[in-house]
Amino acid sequence: MTLLSLRWLRLALPCVLVAGFASAEPQTLIFSHVVSENTPKGKMALMFKSMIERRMGDQFQVEIYPNTELMDDDEAVDAIAEGRIHFAAPSLSKFQNYTTQLMVYDLPFLFADMGAVERFQGSTAGQALLTHMSEDGILGLSYLHNGLKQLTASRDFSLPEDLAGLRFRIIASDVLQKQFVLLNAEPVPMAFSQVYQALADNDIQGQENTWSNIYSQAFYEHQPFMMQSNHGVLDYMVITNTDFWNSLTAEQRQEFRFAMEMSVKYGNAVALAKNQNDRAAIASMSGVSLHEPTLEQLAQWQNAMKPLWQEYEPQIGADVIEAALDANQAP
Ligand code: LMR
Repeated sequence: MTLLSLRWLRLALPCVLVAGFASAEPQTLIFSHVVSENTPKGKMALMFKSMIERRMGDQFQVEIYPNTELMDDDEAVDAIAEGRIHFAAPSLSKFQNYTTQLMVYDLPFLFADMGAVERFQGSTAGQALLTHMSEDGILGLSYLHNGLKQLTASRDFSLPEDLAGLRFRIIASDVLQKQFVLLNAEPVPMAFSQVYQALADNDIQGQENTWSNIYSQAFYEHQPFMMQSNHGVLDYMVITNTDFWNSLTAEQRQEFRFAMEMSVKYGNAVALAKNQNDRAAIASMSGVSLHEPTLEQLAQWQNAMKPLWQEYEPQIGADVIEAALDANQAP
């Protein structure tokens, strides 16, 4: 090496290091969701961010966009598939453009309680559903609970026929659509962020959701009548882009898995507490009438909605439905 090239190297080295340092800046990872921060999913996302940044902050920063600030869930599922964002946790009803098997979660009265949901999700069939969209770019890392759905309306109701003629907001899902058609109500597919205003405008007169979502979105302000129907489940799949995941080192993947496991445990504990606390808060509101159906009334709701199990069996798979029913047997 000549003296000249040595001098050049000495002058250039700091620039090379700075450039190297600049390119080693942490990668920004986008986590998009549609609920508020004070919900099971909102809190899970915050914990995930804090764990990733505490343990790998020199490599990754996580930007969370709650409350549909960036996009709604339908777009988030596409954005994950296309690798435009890194994490999302849409409810299990929102994958219909990619799979029909997840419709199992929309079948009314399939799961006896959240224990059964948990057991199904941990079963071989439930775990296989996490990865079965990976060739489309969508990789499920974990399930996350919210809870069982309740029915709310702007007029009093206790039996299926009482809902006839009401316009009910649904997540865009064939099963949920049929569910309300069976009740002679009118299903209206709508993004979550639009529901409050549509209720306020009387554009819709009913909706189904968990206690946490009814409470955090203040749906009770325009839905004075509610029934503790527990007729379906609203849980999430925390998803990432397959190529992004495969581009990580084994060590990084292990860190992400650990952060995911811890934050989902936390989110599930929040879900459990919110199902009790938000329900209690709503039940104590003077403007709300909460109906707890008798066993005979519940049987009428089940009879009205259960035909959907058979109707969707070819699309979901008899084995998947069977595994879900098996999960109703506590060990
Ligand atoms: C809904 O659209 O009602 C839910 O999926 C919202 C959510 O993420 O809990």
